[in-house]
Amino acid sequence: MIELGDQILSDVHVTAIRSGISRGYEKGLQLVSRFVVNYQAGERREERMKEESEKDSQDDVNVMTDIDGDLVLTRKHKTKDVITTSIAHAMQTNLQDVGMQVWMGCLLLCNFILSNHPRFENSTVLELGGGTGLASVVMATTAKFVICTDESIPFSWSQKDLQLLSDVDVIMAADVVYSNDLTDAFFTKLQHLMKTGKEKTCFITTERRLNFTLTDLDVTCKEYDHFREWLKRLETI
Ligand SMILES: C[S@@+](CC[C@H](N)C(=O)[O-])C[C@H]1O[C@@H](n2cnc3c(N)ncnc32)[C@H](O)[C@@H]1O
Repeated sequence: MIELGDQILSDVHVTAIRSGISRGYEKGLQLVSRFVVNYQAGERREERMKEESEKDSQDDVNVMTDIDGDLVLTRKHKTKDVITTSIAHAMQTNLQDVGMQVWMGCLLLCNFILSNHPRFENSTVLELGGGTGLASVVMATTAKFVICTDESIPFSWSQKDLQLLSDVDVIMAADVVYSNDLTDAFFTKLQHLMKTGKEKTCFITTERRLNFTLTDLDVTCKEYDHFREWLKRLETI
Protein backbone atom coordinates (compact mmCIF):
# COMPACT_ATOMS: atom_id res chain seq x y z
CA MET A 1 0.00 0.00 0.00
CA ILE A 2 1.26 3.48 -0.87
CA GLU A 3 1.95 5.67 2.16
CA LEU A 4 1.65 9.47 2.10
CA GLY A 5 5.42 10.19 2.02
CA ASP A 6 6.28 7.54 -0.63
CA GLN A 7 7.77 8.67 -3.93
CA ILE A 8 5.81 7.61 -7.01
CA LEU A 9 6.93 7.59 -10.62
CA SER A 10 4.64 7.33 -13.64
CA ASP A 11 5.41 4.66 -16.27
CA VAL A 12 4.94 7.37 -18.90
CA HIS A 13 8.16 9.02 -17.78
CA VAL A 14 10.04 5.75 -17.20
CA THR A 15 9.37 4.60 -20.77
CA ALA A 16 9.43 8.10 -22.27
CA ILE A 17 12.37 7.63 -24.62
CA ARG A 18 11.20 4.19 -25.80
CA SER A 19 7.73 5.52 -26.57
CA GLY A 20 9.02 8.47 -28.58
CA ILE A 21 8.47 11.16 -25.96
CA SER A 22 11.55 13.34 -25.99
CA ARG A 23 13.05 15.06 -22.99
CA GLY A 24 13.50 18.74 -23.58
CA TYR A 25 15.24 20.62 -20.85
CA GLU A 26 15.18 21.00 -17.09
CA LYS A 27 13.26 23.87 -15.62
CA GLY A 28 14.01 24.27 -11.93
CA LEU A 29 13.03 20.96 -10.33
CA GLN A 30 10.92 20.06 -13.34
CA LEU A 31 11.60 18.53 -16.73
CA VAL A 32 9.98 19.61 -19.96
CA SER A 33 9.06 16.73 -22.29
CA ARG A 34 7.82 16.96 -25.83
CA PHE A 35 4.76 14.89 -26.72
CA VAL A 36 4.39 14.51 -30.47
CA VAL A 37 0.96 13.30 -31.45
CA ASN A 38 -0.05 12.22 -34.95
CA TYR A 39 -3.64 12.55 -35.98
CA GLN A 40 -5.73 12.89 -39.09
CA ALA A 41 -7.91 15.94 -39.62
CA GLY A 42 -11.09 16.43 -41.66
CA GLU A 43 -11.32 14.82 -45.09
CA ARG A 44 -7.86 13.26 -44.82
CA ARG A 45 -9.15 11.34 -41.82
CA GLU A 46 -12.10 9.89 -43.75
CA GLU A 47 -9.78 8.73 -46.58
CA ARG A 48 -7.30 7.27 -44.14
CA MET A 49 -9.96 5.37 -42.17
CA LYS A 50 -11.24 3.82 -45.40
CA GLU A 51 -7.72 2.73 -46.41
CA GLU A 52 -7.05 1.29 -42.98
CA SER A 53 -10.29 -0.64 -42.73
CA GLU A 54 -9.56 -2.18 -46.16
CA LYS A 55 -6.06 -3.07 -45.02
CA ASP A 56 -7.28 -4.49 -41.67
CA SER A 57 -9.76 -6.75 -43.40
CA GLN A 58 -6.94 -8.15 -45.58
CA ASP A 59 -4.48 -8.71 -42.71
CA ASP A 60 -4.16 -12.12 -41.10
CA VAL A 61 -5.18 -12.18 -37.44
CA ASN A 62 -1.72 -12.61 -35.99
CA VAL A 63 -1.67 -10.87 -32.63
CA MET A 64 1.54 -10.89 -30.61
CA THR A 65 1.78 -10.37 -26.86
CA ASP A 66 4.70 -9.34 -24.65
CA ILE A 67 5.86 -11.21 -21.52
CA ASP A 68 3.13 -9.51 -19.44
CA GLY A 69 0.45 -10.62 -21.88
CA ASP A 70 -0.07 -7.09 -23.25
CA LEU A 71 -0.77 -6.75 -26.97
CA VAL A 72 2.18 -5.72 -29.12
CA LEU A 73 0.60 -3.34 -31.57
CA THR A 74 1.92 -2.09 -34.87
CA ARG A 75 1.90 1.66 -34.53
CA LYS A 76 0.25 3.60 -37.30
CA HIS A 77 2.74 5.43 -39.51
CA LYS A 78 3.15 9.17 -39.32
CA THR A 79 0.36 11.44 -40.48
CA LYS A 80 0.36 14.94 -41.93
CA ASP A 81 -1.33 16.51 -38.92
CA VAL A 82 0.90 16.68 -35.89
CA ILE A 83 0.42 18.28 -32.49
CA THR A 84 3.61 18.97 -30.56
CA THR A 85 3.06 19.89 -26.96
CA SER A 86 5.72 20.63 -24.39
CA ILE A 87 4.65 19.64 -20.91
CA ALA A 88 6.52 20.60 -17.75
CA HIS A 89 6.41 17.75 -15.23
CA ALA A 90 8.17 16.25 -12.25
CA MET A 91 10.07 12.97 -12.57
CA GLN A 92 8.75 11.63 -9.29
CA THR A 93 6.47 13.01 -6.61
CA ASN A 94 4.75 12.10 -3.39
CA LEU A 95 1.08 11.06 -3.44
CA GLN A 96 -0.28 14.60 -3.03
CA ASP A 97 1.59 15.89 -6.07
CA VAL A 98 0.93 13.08 -8.59
CA GLY A 99 -0.76 15.62 -10.85
CA MET A 100 2.69 16.97 -11.69
CA GLN A 101 3.35 13.84 -13.77
CA VAL A 102 1.63 12.53 -16.91
CA TRP A 103 -0.12 9.16 -16.38
CA MET A 104 -0.96 6.27 -18.68
CA GLY A 105 -4.68 6.99 -18.36
CA CYS A 106 -3.98 10.42 -19.83
CA LEU A 107 -2.23 8.96 -22.88
CA LEU A 108 -5.15 6.56 -23.38
CA LEU A 109 -7.58 9.45 -23.16
CA CYS A 110 -5.52 11.46 -25.70
CA ASN A 111 -5.58 8.45 -28.01
CA PHE A 112 -9.34 8.15 -27.64
CA ILE A 113 -9.87 11.87 -28.36
CA LEU A 114 -7.69 11.74 -31.48
CA SER A 115 -9.41 8.57 -32.74
CA ASN A 116 -12.77 10.29 -32.34
CA HIS A 117 -11.80 13.83 -33.31
CA PRO A 118 -15.04 14.80 -35.14
CA ARG A 119 -17.13 13.48 -32.21
CA PHE A 120 -15.95 16.44 -30.06
CA GLU A 121 -16.01 19.23 -32.66
CA ASN A 122 -18.91 21.15 -31.17
CA SER A 123 -18.40 20.12 -27.57
CA THR A 124 -17.80 22.13 -24.45
CA VAL A 125 -15.57 19.88 -22.36
CA LEU A 126 -14.80 19.79 -18.64
CA GLU A 127 -11.76 17.84 -17.49
CA LEU A 128 -11.60 16.80 -13.83
CA GLY A 129 -8.21 16.14 -12.19
CA GLY A 130 -6.40 17.33 -15.33
CA GLY A 131 -2.91 17.40 -13.73
CA THR A 132 -0.40 18.71 -16.28
CA GLY A 133 -3.29 19.39 -18.70
CA LEU A 134 -2.09 17.27 -21.64
CA ALA A 135 -5.51 15.68 -22.34
CA SER A 136 -7.16 19.11 -22.29
CA VAL A 137 -4.55 20.49 -24.72
CA VAL A 138 -5.26 17.58 -27.08
CA MET A 139 -9.00 18.03 -26.66
CA ALA A 140 -8.59 21.73 -27.51
CA THR A 141 -7.49 20.70 -31.04
CA THR A 142 -11.09 19.78 -31.78
CA ALA A 143 -13.58 20.93 -29.10
CA LYS A 144 -15.29 24.31 -29.07
CA PHE A 145 -14.26 25.04 -25.49
CA VAL A 146 -12.24 23.14 -22.87
CA ILE A 147 -12.22 23.77 -19.11
CA CYS A 148 -9.34 22.01 -17.38
CA THR A 149 -9.68 21.70 -13.61
CA ASP A 150 -7.71 20.17 -10.78
CA GLU A 151 -7.84 20.81 -7.06
CA SER A 152 -9.31 24.28 -6.98
CA ILE A 153 -9.11 27.07 -4.47
CA PRO A 154 -12.54 27.82 -2.91
CA PHE A 155 -14.39 30.66 -4.69
CA SER A 156 -11.92 30.65 -7.61
CA TRP A 157 -14.70 30.28 -10.21
CA SER A 158 -15.95 33.50 -11.81
CA GLN A 159 -19.57 34.05 -12.92
CA LYS A 160 -18.40 33.57 -16.52
CA ASP A 161 -16.80 30.20 -15.65
CA LEU A 162 -20.03 29.08 -13.96
CA GLN A 163 -22.02 30.12 -17.01
CA LEU A 164 -19.71 28.00 -19.21
CA LEU A 165 -20.28 25.03 -16.92
CA SER A 166 -23.93 24.93 -17.94
CA ASP A 167 -22.82 24.41 -21.60
CA VAL A 168 -20.64 21.41 -20.79
CA ASP A 169 -21.71 18.31 -22.71
CA VAL A 170 -18.58 16.20 -22.24
CA ILE A 171 -16.78 15.44 -18.97
CA MET A 172 -13.48 13.60 -19.03
CA ALA A 173 -11.12 12.34 -16.36
CA ALA A 174 -7.90 10.33 -16.56
CA ASP A 175 -6.39 8.37 -13.71
CA VAL A 176 -8.41 9.89 -10.87
CA VAL A 177 -9.62 6.66 -9.25
CA TYR A 178 -6.40 5.45 -7.63
CA SER A 179 -7.63 5.60 -4.00
CA ASN A 180 -11.03 4.55 -2.72
CA ASP A 181 -11.64 7.87 -0.91
CA LEU A 182 -10.84 9.81 -4.06
CA THR A 183 -13.07 7.52 -6.14
CA ASP A 184 -15.98 8.13 -3.73
CA ALA A 185 -15.44 11.90 -3.87
CA PHE A 186 -15.09 11.79 -7.68
CA PHE A 187 -18.32 9.88 -8.30
CA THR A 188 -20.26 11.94 -5.76
CA LYS A 189 -19.22 15.13 -7.55
CA LEU A 190 -19.71 13.56 -10.97
CA GLN A 191 -23.30 12.55 -10.24
CA HIS A 192 -24.06 16.14 -9.29
CA LEU A 193 -22.36 17.55 -12.42
CA MET A 194 -24.08 15.07 -14.74
CA LYS A 195 -27.47 16.30 -13.50
CA THR A 196 -26.55 19.98 -13.99
CA GLY A 197 -27.11 21.84 -17.29
CA LYS A 198 -27.00 20.03 -20.64
CA GLU A 199 -27.16 16.28 -21.17
CA LYS A 200 -23.62 14.96 -20.88
CA THR A 201 -21.35 12.03 -21.65
CA CYS A 202 -18.48 11.22 -19.35
CA PHE A 203 -15.27 9.48 -20.45
CA ILE A 204 -13.06 7.99 -17.73
CA THR A 205 -9.74 6.28 -18.32
CA THR A 206 -7.64 4.56 -15.72
CA GLU A 207 -4.67 2.27 -15.32
CA ARG A 208 -5.32 -0.94 -13.40
CA ARG A 209 -2.25 -1.13 -11.18
CA LEU A 210 -1.83 -4.70 -10.05
CA ASN A 211 0.16 -5.48 -6.90
CA PHE A 212 0.96 -8.62 -4.99
CA THR A 213 -0.19 -8.26 -1.37
CA LEU A 214 0.65 -10.46 1.59
CA THR A 215 -2.89 -9.94 2.91
CA ASP A 216 -4.42 -11.58 -0.16
CA LEU A 217 -1.43 -13.67 -1.21
CA ASP A 218 -2.50 -12.70 -4.68
CA VAL A 219 -2.05 -10.08 -7.38
CA THR A 220 -4.95 -7.64 -7.04
CA CYS A 221 -6.01 -4.05 -7.58
CA LYS A 222 -8.52 -3.17 -4.88
CA GLU A 223 -8.87 0.40 -6.14
CA TYR A 224 -9.90 -0.82 -9.57
CA ASP A 225 -12.42 -3.23 -8.01
CA HIS A 226 -13.85 -0.31 -6.02
CA PHE A 227 -14.12 1.76 -9.21
CA ARG A 228 -15.96 -1.10 -10.96
CA GLU A 229 -18.36 -1.42 -8.00
CA TRP A 230 -19.24 2.26 -8.44
CA LEU A 231 -19.92 1.71 -12.16
CA LYS A 232 -22.14 -1.25 -11.35
CA ARG A 233 -24.05 0.75 -8.73
CA LEU A 234 -24.56 3.66 -11.18
CA GLU A 235 -25.97 1.30 -13.81
CA THR A 236 -28.91 0.61 -11.50
CA ILE A 237 -29.84 4.29 -11.13
C1 LIG B 1 -2.80 10.56 -11.08
S1 LIG B 1 -3.09 12.26 -11.34
C2 LIG B 1 -3.75 12.28 -12.98
C3 LIG B 1 -3.44 13.55 -13.69
C4 LIG B 1 -3.82 13.55 -15.17
N1 LIG B 1 -5.23 13.41 -15.35
C5 LIG B 1 -3.08 12.46 -15.92
O1 LIG B 1 -3.67 11.39 -16.15
O2 LIG B 1 -1.92 12.68 -16.26
C6 LIG B 1 -4.58 12.58 -10.37
C7 LIG B 1 -5.03 14.01 -10.42
O3 LIG B 1 -6.22 14.16 -9.62
C8 LIG B 1 -6.12 15.38 -8.89
N2 LIG B 1 -6.95 15.33 -7.66
C9 LIG B 1 -6.77 14.56 -6.58
N3 LIG B 1 -7.71 14.85 -5.66
C10 LIG B 1 -8.50 15.83 -6.18
C11 LIG B 1 -9.63 16.56 -5.70
N4 LIG B 1 -10.14 16.32 -4.51
N5 LIG B 1 -10.18 17.48 -6.52
C12 LIG B 1 -9.67 17.71 -7.76
N6 LIG B 1 -8.59 17.06 -8.24
C13 LIG B 1 -8.02 16.14 -7.47
C14 LIG B 1 -4.64 15.47 -8.54
O4 LIG B 1 -4.25 16.79 -8.20
C15 LIG B 1 -4.02 14.98 -9.85
O5 LIG B 1 -3.81 16.04 -10.75
